[in-house]
Amino acid sequence: MSRIVYLLNGPNLNLLGKRQPEIYGHETLADVERDCRALCAELKLDLRFFQSNREYELIDWIHEARGAAGGIVINPAAFTHTSVALLDALNAFDGPVIEVHISNVHKRESFRHHSYVSLRAEGVIAGCGVQGYQLALRRIAALIDKP
Ligand code: DQA
Repeated sequence: MSRIVYLLNGPNLNLLGKRQPEIYGHETLADVERDCRALCAELKLDLRFFQSNREYELIDWIHEARGAAGGIVINPAAFTHTSVALLDALNAFDGPVIEVHISNVHKRESFRHHSYVSLRAEGVIAGCGVQGYQLALRRIAALIDKP
């Protein structure tokens, strides 16, 4: 299986570190990318790291991952709770998908309790802060390495 992993971040995550730090912490998306690249070097994964505020761009990257990537890690942000289009795109991808949320969405407003993406994801990590991305990458590596 391909060792390419797409790590996709949805809307407003470009403001990580500045936006509601009491919920999302002080680390920036650049810090997250740096730490994920270091871990991927260790796990021998080829990381493609993206963020967009536009639903269609996330969909296009999922299409690009088809036939190219061994797995997808995605924090769909607010699109988690609204986007059938993202679910459909992920359903057209064959490899493992791990969904990440920095905050514990289940402790928050009830509209955050439902995720369209969870209908597709092999695993969901929520409430572990930005460390959730590292846990997700380790899980993808384990699934890729599974005999
Ligand atoms: C989030 C949780 C979502 O409900 C929210 O809309 C986000 C970020 C998280 O990482 O905790 O933007 O996905």
